[in-house]
Amino acid sequence: RPRVLSGIQPTAGSFHLGNYLGAVRQWVALQETHDAFYMVVDLHAITVPKDPAELRANTRMAAAQLLAAGVDPERCKVFLQSHVPEHTQLSWVVECLTGFGEASRMTQFKDKSAKQGNDSTTVGLFTYPALMAADILVYRAHEVPVGEDQRQHLELTRNIAERFNGRYGATFPVPEPYILKETGKIYDLQEPTVKMSKSASTPKGIIDLLDDPKTSAKKIKSAVTDTDTVIRYAPEEKPGVSNLLTIYSTLTGTGIPELEEKYDGKGYGALKTDLAEVVAEWVTPFRTRTQEYLDDPETLDRILAEGAEKARSVAAETLATVYDKVGFLPAK
Ligand code: TYM
Repeated sequence: RPRVLSGIQPTAGSFHLGNYLGAVRQWVALQETHDAFYMVVDLHAITVPKDPAELRANTRMAAAQLLAAGVDPERCKVFLQSHVPEHTQLSWVVECLTGFGEASRMTQFKDKSAKQGNDSTTVGLFTYPALMAADILVYRAHEVPVGEDQRQHLELTRNIAERFNGRYGATFPVPEPYILKETGKIYDLQEPTVKMSKSASTPKGIIDLLDDPKTSAKKIKSAVTDTDTVIRYAPEEKPGVSNLLTIYSTLTGTGIPELEEKYDGKGYGALKTDLAEVVAEWVTPFRTRTQEYLDDPETLDRILAEGAEKARSVAAETLATVYDKVGFLPAK
């Protein structure tokens, strides 16, 4: 079975619909056909200051949401990044193969560091993509299911894999991004030309998966569309309506042409009301399942411990190979 690896940050509270449609949904599908490794990237979370108690709560919350969304410990390895020390051990080697200029060109780093200013930007934020590359390479993953915003980081990972293979001999598959055209970028409801994002969107622009469905309904009903009334998928001309159609289509499995036909002549109000219903139907059981995992932290922790153990056995093997190829002497 080809291997997939992906990760998600433990953000405060809840994942948003972009995380689910852009990434986690694909994780759930791929665990059926691939040898799958999915993790909560708690190490990546501290590139910006985090309160320890909050980080703990957010990490549990993130793991509970992955399981509630259908990530199944019987079908994949689900774990916390910090439980597998090989990620950080490999990341040093990756850093030593990454150009300073190359890392400086990462747009997420440029955007975030510009916002934070030099003195609050950590070196960890700068080396973040190297750790991400190590996350992927330590499992010798073939494919990486993510949203469009991670494409550049994957390009870097591919370059590093090729560089390592070139210098030390064939070791890593060059990993392919697994980014779906339809859902690779879900847009902010209030600003439908920019991605839905925890750090950049206003609360009204984001559908949080753990929001009360009434709150989500309000947000959907006040989503920015356009002055026209025609329901048509045209991302350039009608980004707001197109985003709503994408969400609707993906959550229900209905084709977009079918939706265009269904809402022909009906106006945005009808589309938004029905979409709110569709979202409520998806999030209601999701919220219940998340709560069940949170109410049973022992089970949750056991699942994560088992996942980490399985992940470690694969990661340790890669790390040993890499350390040997690089020229580090064995400990005994
Ligand atoms: P993170 O936590 O920001 O996001 C998790 C996943 O959600 C996707 N995503 C979106 N997809 C579509 N539309 C959106 N509006 C949207 N917003 C977020 C992201 O692309 C991502 O797939 N650096 C990564 C985590 C990471 C990782 C890895 C991923 C660390 N190591 C190794 C893959 C492999 C991140 O911060 O994702």
